[in-house]
Amino acid sequence: MIELKNITKSYSNGAVKAVNDLNLTVFEGELFGFLGPNGAGKTTTIKMMTGLLKPGSGSILLNGIDIIKEPLEAKKIIGYVPDEPVFYEKMTGVQFLTFISDVFGVSKKKRSGIMELAEYFELDKSLGDVVSSYSHGMRQKLSIIAALIHDPEILILDEPIVGLDPKASFRLKEKLKGFCNMGKTVFFSTHVMEVAEKLCDRVGIISNGSLIASAPLDELRKDAGEKNASLERLFLELTGSLKEAGEEYEL
Ligand SMILES: Nc1ncnc2c1ncn2[C@@H]1O[C@H](COP(=O)(O)OP(=O)(O)OP(=O)(O)O)[C@@H](O)[C@H]1O
Ligand SMILES: [Mg+2]
Repeated sequence: MIELKNITKSYSNGAVKAVNDLNLTVFEGELFGFLGPNGAGKTTTIKMMTGLLKPGSGSILLNGIDIIKEPLEAKKIIGYVPDEPVFYEKMTGVQFLTFISDVFGVSKKKRSGIMELAEYFELDKSLGDVVSSYSHGMRQKLSIIAALIHDPEILILDEPIVGLDPKASFRLKEKLKGFCNMGKTVFFSTHVMEVAEKLCDRVGIISNGSLIASAPLDELRKDAGEKNASLERLFLELTGSLKEAGEEYEL
């Protein structure tokens, strides 16, 4: 499971408080959706969870392992799909995935999983091509496969649906559900309310660096006293997005 305790992060020598005293627990086997307006602090939080950024204060435990104190141990058990994946452009897809397998010490036997995943996401025919020739969606698929090949315990994905075609998006969602059904944990950010609504056991909403809600959708509806409200409506209400613009939600 994932435990964030009193996480704070500022940029520009403290001028920008991106994450402000964030406390959050995601349980084993849970599919957790992390929502929030642009600039709310989602990517900053995710980068701290994956050891790419050091929090100003607080602690982060991933299945009990402290990502700040034991980054190598923690990174072994997580798979991470960044919002903007970076590759060695001159490598072919298969070279990149082999390189990632080497980094994680994936056994020769288990590397057959690469081909299965590539076929599942329909990237198998392009694996021999250099990454620089890949489209946006193909790069996204490569990043997803790279996050899965070492069989992680926790998957952390930053807007993974963006750029995927409907079939790939469907397959990713199935993969994430299957991952959680094995007792593993998924934490992903998204702006697609319908995806979060259908897929997640629980959602967290961050706004201006602070967590303003963390609950199953039914509970959010109950708290708002609107038992049939869509997640979109609840999101817009909770984040004050409509009030600011003086708009009404009419759907
Ligand atoms: N490298 C940086 N230097 C300075 N400020 C930054 C930096 N990265 C992010 N910020 C600021 O931190 C805040 C949170 O940004 P973050 O990228 O975490 O938001 P986000 O929720 O992921 O947004 P989006 O939905 O647009 O991806 C924003 O105010 C942003 O301008
Ligand atoms: Mg982001």
